[in-house]
Amino acid sequence: MRNLLFSFILFLPITFCFSQAKKETGPFTFIDTGGKPINAHGGGILYHNNTYYWYGEIKRGKTFKVPGSNWENYRVNAGGVSCYSSKNLREWKFAGVVLPANKTDQNSDLHISKVIERPKVIYNKKTKQFVMWMHIDSDDYAYARSGVAVSNSPTGPFKYLGSEKPNGNMARDMTIFVDDDGKAYHFYSSEDNATMHIALLTDDYLKHTTTDKRILIGLSREAPAVFKYQKKYYLITSGCTGWSPNEANYAVANDILGEWKAYGNPCLGKDADKTYYAQSTFVLPVQGKINQFIFMADQWSKLDLEKSKYLWYPLSVNTEGLPEIKPYK
Ligand code: GAL
Repeated sequence: MRNLLFSFILFLPITFCFSQAKKETGPFTFIDTGGKPINAHGGGILYHNNTYYWYGEIKRGKTFKVPGSNWENYRVNAGGVSCYSSKNLREWKFAGVVLPANKTDQNSDLHISKVIERPKVIYNKKTKQFVMWMHIDSDDYAYARSGVAVSNSPTGPFKYLGSEKPNGNMARDMTIFVDDDGKAYHFYSSEDNATMHIALLTDDYLKHTTTDKRILIGLSREAPAVFKYQKKYYLITSGCTGWSPNEANYAVANDILGEWKAYGNPCLGKDADKTYYAQSTFVLPVQGKINQFIFMADQWSKLDLEKSKYLWYPLSVNTEGLPEIKPYK
């Protein structure tokens, strides 16, 4: 383990230098450069012009259970999407609420009574726009749509364009992956979360094309996080147990729209069967490094969602082509 720690420090001199974190090992309450806890859950990171931008859900205020729910439907009022920027993955500067929630219009997708989750931002080289996709829902999760917003700057403000059911499908937990050829794909849990879909976005990244593939059929996976290594595509997902942790799984494909085969749990070490009490949200390739990724996950605090923490562990693909997440300790 010492070697692991050492190599991780080598490739990330910062190693999230958890001087900034409250504890020595994950999960962490990251603190921004202004001394405040980072509030960017279910997030993802865009690397653009030598800067990392971390976007996530703002979870603030009282956690309550949605009246009438017969499941653990805990929530806070939707807080919109925050952004933090960093040059080194260690010091994060708050860049603002880049997509605020709406406090007045009950019919707005962004109204505080709605669900705004798992925002992911990508950059379109052709249009020079930053495009944010996110899961938009009603508080009972029946609306099941994908929302899209755009900005000319990574730090917003983002203009909300609306939401859709991709190709008429339900869409909840999601991520976006941009391939080396510039094509962008929307991975979304669909069909009542039973089946994952991968939809190719239009060239401007603002809509879905009709290329929409069903994968992991009937396996009930969510919280997708995608990365590519040596021409293979890897998808890490969680099971469907709401805010409660479960066992992660990974799937691999040679062609992003080809066959995806589910394998097993990529997590190693203590509490691997519960994803270290966290849930996947993103896999970040470390810039300038080969086969060095950061597995980003949320450790939800379901009774007080604002207290939810972040778990970032090193991820790499072993010599047999299997992804491995190793606890940072
Ligand atoms: C999880 C999902 C979260 C959130 C939560 C609500 O399964 O991954 O993003 O939607 O359910 O209970």
